[in-house]
Amino acid sequence: MTDMLDSKQASERKPWFLTGNYAPVADEVTDFNLKITGAIPKTLSGMYLRNGSNPKTGYTDHWFFGDGMIHGVRLEGGEAKWYRNRYVRSTKYEKGLEAMDPDCMFDPTASAANTHVLGHAGRIWALEEGHFPWELSRDLETMGCDDFGGKLTTAFTAHPKLCPETNELHFFGYAPIAPYVTYHVLDAKGQLVHSAPITTPKGTMMHDFMITRDHAIFMDLPVVFDLDKIAQGLPPIGWDDTYGARIGIMPRMGTDADVRWFEVDPCYVFHPLNSYVEGDEVICDVGRHATMWKNSMEDFDPSYMWRWTFNLKTGAVREQQYDDWAHGFPRVDDRVVGLKHRYGWASGARDAKVGAMDSAGVVAKYDMKDGSKTVHDFGPCAHPGEFAFVQDSATAGEDEGYAMGFVYYSDTETSELVILDATDMAKPPVARVHLPQRVPFGFHGSWVDDSIFN
Ligand SMILES: [Fe+2]
Repeated sequence: MTDMLDSKQASERKPWFLTGNYAPVADEVTDFNLKITGAIPKTLSGMYLRNGSNPKTGYTDHWFFGDGMIHGVRLEGGEAKWYRNRYVRSTKYEKGLEAMDPDCMFDPTASAANTHVLGHAGRIWALEEGHFPWELSRDLETMGCDDFGGKLTTAFTAHPKLCPETNELHFFGYAPIAPYVTYHVLDAKGQLVHSAPITTPKGTMMHDFMITRDHAIFMDLPVVFDLDKIAQGLPPIGWDDTYGARIGIMPRMGTDADVRWFEVDPCYVFHPLNSYVEGDEVICDVGRHATMWKNSMEDFDPSYMWRWTFNLKTGAVREQQYDDWAHGFPRVDDRVVGLKHRYGWASGARDAKVGAMDSAGVVAKYDMKDGSKTVHDFGPCAHPGEFAFVQDSATAGEDEGYAMGFVYYSDTETSELVILDATDMAKPPVARVHLPQRVPFGFHGSWVDDSIFN
């Protein structure tokens, strides 16, 4: 009984992001004998990879600060060939640095490498927004830090945008000291071919951005840096009521002078769904939080889908809430990034009121054309993370494929990779890959198709 009480008291002292399925897993596991329910589509050949925070010491000051761990499942020929989870062995990991340690903040190789994982031009990168990318092998071993032949001199966002028409990777870096924002482009071969500093009034936490066929779009929102707060023992970043909120739209491959800034109501957007041009207008569908980190870094409002419309001819701005479902991790078919989308997928609350992953959740498909939303409910103990869309074939239509992601079941403390039919979310899963250990709640993932290595 004493042990149980001690354990309960210890657990109560732990912050929420170190308990339950937020808690890190201790082991790096490789499993070639995965049990499957259903049938994995034979058209899929590649890896589903997902990144997340898994502090190697078991402790971190914030959910965003733990060491990156990739969980991956390889699918090929209708089989799940393997599951692996591996730390990203960055300078931060190897030296055991804390994220807010200046040696970590200002060493561009000292990435937590915990936020996203992406394949492009035959390479796989673990990404985090304050540092350089770290490259991984196809077996998820860490290969090295990437500065693109010394050309990259800023951080690399965790949310680059791959243009499906040109295969260019558009991205940016932000920093607490000037230049606060820098726009970059990698060409289809992975060469850094364009870099341009973008002026903002302060260092601004720009977590994500958007492209259209013609534009790069920056969100300068009121979560900003104030490094003087470090001396006061306060977090150097937070909501600023006086900062305002602006969206910068510039031609692709443009420079600072080309940016047109449009005022919007103050808010925070971690994740847009997508953006595109229609006539004179730029349409941005975004997950909008009314506020973020207003009183502390634990303090945020839920995210709801909103549509911003910017008229490039008249300068008019329209802001409309799309629905009242609290969601996270909005994704489109990667083949329509920057182009007009009809569909989107997101995970969120079962009861629409709460957005935290430790409440049971569902995955939904938005139909922006008819305004409907269809839901896949995995059951009362299921906690889905981000679901990515994977097309069934190169010629398949926008929703013809699969929504894929990890689901944690709190009753059995197990996890699965679940593959849903993206055309009809109400159907039972196409396949469920039962994993040998739980996958902690994490951040973003990607389907890395074998075709990127050709
Ligand atoms: Fe993100």
